[in-house]
Amino acid sequence: MLNWLFRRSVPPARTFNPKVVWWNDERWLSRFERHLRPDAGPTGVGDWKRILDRRFTLAQFAGMVLRLRGQTAECGVFTGVSSAVICEVLRDSYSDGERHWAFDSFAGLPEPTTSDGDAWNSGDLTANYATARQHLKEFPFCELVQGWIPEVLEPCSEFPFRFAHIDLDLYEPTAHALAFFYPRLVNGGIIVCDDYGFRTCPGARQAVDEFVQNTNAPLVELTTGQAVLFRLATNESIRGGNNP
Ligand SMILES: C[S@@+](CC[C@H](N)C(=O)[O-])C[C@H]1O[C@@H](n2cnc3c(N)ncnc32)[C@H](O)[C@@H]1O
Repeated sequence: MLNWLFRRSVPPARTFNPKVVWWNDERWLSRFERHLRPDAGPTGVGDWKRILDRRFTLAQFAGMVLRLRGQTAECGVFTGVSSAVICEVLRDSYSDGERHWAFDSFAGLPEPTTSDGDAWNSGDLTANYATARQHLKEFPFCELVQGWIPEVLEPCSEFPFRFAHIDLDLYEPTAHALAFFYPRLVNGGIIVCDDYGFRTCPGARQAVDEFVQNTNAPLVELTTGQAVLFRLATNESIRGGNNP
């Protein structure tokens, strides 16, 4: 009973250790705060720091591909916050027509499958194309594309990618996005899967686990609930790297 009471009284996961620097680090908050404000919700009165751990982690991993060549992508844009984080981190690194591709149905989730449990219904998480467009307008290299994954990915099939963020919540679109982007990653490229560790997204986790089992792709599960897939680097894939 005491044990149960103790577990019930542990503060929520988003109460961060006040000793960590990043939580209140002005060096990154001042650069990203305006992009993160929509996390406060449409009325702006919610807590814009409510998923700051995932925003910070996404920024860190996007930074790892700063010196790689290739396109970047996000599957599941919603209001545009996570695409804005990626674009802000990498804003000076898009060259030779490289783009950030941001895909969303803007009609919410498709029909869940039996793998997805009962947390979601078709049409949940509907966002507005114009709202996302507005949040991403300062990034001229960002292509916001409305349509259903996987069909909408087709125009990108010839491009190499250095980074993809997959945040689709459900089994089928997550499986399609992984199958599309992982083989197109340059060496050193990274895929961040937002939903992997969440009890509400068992289908997304299953899709990642099946993909890893079939490909042996290196996977790291994070305490934030995210998971990261890597394509290991060689010197040739690093901009300005030494080619022995
Ligand atoms: C959790 S939200 C994305 C949140 C966003 N990445 C962020 O961090 O703010 C999931 C999004 O995936 C989109 N989505 C899910 N399945 C899709 C599919 N098959 N095709 C296109 N969009 C899809 C939904 O419309 C929704 O906007």
